[in-house]
Amino acid sequence: MNTPAALECSLFDRRILVVDDYELTRRMIVDALLQTGYTSVQEAMDGREALDKFRMGSHDLIITDVMMPNMDGMELLDRLHEIRADSSIILVTGQPEVDAGVAAMKRGAVDYIRKPFNIQDLLYKVEVCLRERHLLPEEDGQSALSNTQLTEKKKELSVHGHIYESFENIEGDNQQVFEKMAELALRVVDGGEATIWIFDAESDQFHPQVVRYAEGSSPDQTGNAINVIPFLYQVVDKREALVVQSPNGNGGAASLLCAPLVIRGAVFGVLAVRRKKYAGIFTSKDVHYIVSLTKRASLNLENKLLYESLFANVLDTFQSLVACVQMRDNYTQEHCRRVTKVSIRIAEVLGLELQDRECLKVAGILHDVGKIAIPDNVLLKPGKLTDDEYEVIKQHSSLGENVLKPIALFDREREIILHHHERWDGRGYPFGLVGTDIPLLSRIISVVDTFDAMTNNRPYRKALDIDTALDEIRRNRGTQFDPEVADAFLSLY
Ligand SMILES: [Fe+2]
Repeated sequence: MNTPAALECSLFDRRILVVDDYELTRRMIVDALLQTGYTSVQEAMDGREALDKFRMGSHDLIITDVMMPNMDGMELLDRLHEIRADSSIILVTGQPEVDAGVAAMKRGAVDYIRKPFNIQDLLYKVEVCLRERHLLPEEDGQSALSNTQLTEKKKELSVHGHIYESFENIEGDNQQVFEKMAELALRVVDGGEATIWIFDAESDQFHPQVVRYAEGSSPDQTGNAINVIPFLYQVVDKREALVVQSPNGNGGAASLLCAPLVIRGAVFGVLAVRRKKYAGIFTSKDVHYIVSLTKRASLNLENKLLYESLFANVLDTFQSLVACVQMRDNYTQEHCRRVTKVSIRIAEVLGLELQDRECLKVAGILHDVGKIAIPDNVLLKPGKLTDDEYEVIKQHSSLGENVLKPIALFDREREIILHHHERWDGRGYPFGLVGTDIPLLSRIISVVDTFDAMTNNRPYRKALDIDTALDEIRRNRGTQFDPEVADAFLSLY
């Protein structure tokens, strides 16, 4: 049995140079590296200073901005390669196009990250690059890598790229992240069995969350002779990966590789991969891939968790605003709940994607939040509104959009709220958009909103019966409402 502890130690001793003319960004990156445990981090404010420092220190990794005075990141990249052909450089690019990053890789950068970036993503890339370097033999500084080494390096980079991208836009819940992790683990190290064990710290027990077998493998073939549980505790204790090599790979139990899943410093699970029978032992490169995989997956789960708790908090706050409106007009809150529920059903009939349905959940609840700013004498007026008063009420969609403006999380929802009183024929408000220029989700809310208002008592009139209200929707199909959305709505009744 061996642990990659030695590798971890030397990893954090590697020399890193951070180059950026903007001091705040530079400091943020340097601080994050130091806090992560890297001990040798230097900084430079442009390409020229970076080059001077590199000549003296020959850093293992250079993280550089592209747009800088004196010497930009691209020129720096070329100059560094002139000095040392195997210099590892991560470019931080402000250009949104994917092509800019690809061009940087073609010019010899080991990786790139686009602004604005999540610092955890950058730290992940730094670690991957440094581990790559650690596995490669030290060069004499002038000679290029041999063809075999280059091919091997490209293969490794593509494996890491594949791992990184697999988690970048993963949709769905945590279970899907776990499943993706197990599947990838089997593929990248030619595993026979991959299990995600979730650690319950309270009961001090492990529960298998996902178990995956490679094609042609089954529980008896991967050799259950090794009892994995004691090793899982060891991984939790030491918080690092662990390899148990089978003494005779061909006959006995298959080798085992375990790596921790860590969120905010706490181990919440372990990925355990068994080698395929007859597939030999795990190499340090395999450990490297699995550690990279678990880190990336943990990062994804952590971001999800952060996003979800932040999102839930913010949504709670806005829901209490909606409740305030409800306390005033005794209608809005229940109305919003009903509108949300039925809008989601329409989205299902129309076959919309999960993210659209999620978006409706928020937009539906908050679509009338702007009413908080409408004065009582207008909002609660029992009789018919004057033209002026109607103009005031009409402001609630723009007001709602405004209330949500400071929250970047709700960009898409804001747009839907802004347009929920537009009409298909262009006679709605606030902008008089026509047809498909109106966001689809606004068109959905519009139908349900109108129907719900008609079928409930309002200060200015009594509720209509369901059939009369359905007739109204039918009659306004193609004028007030998107015909397709109206049909989807009518199909529910
Ligand atoms: Fe409204």
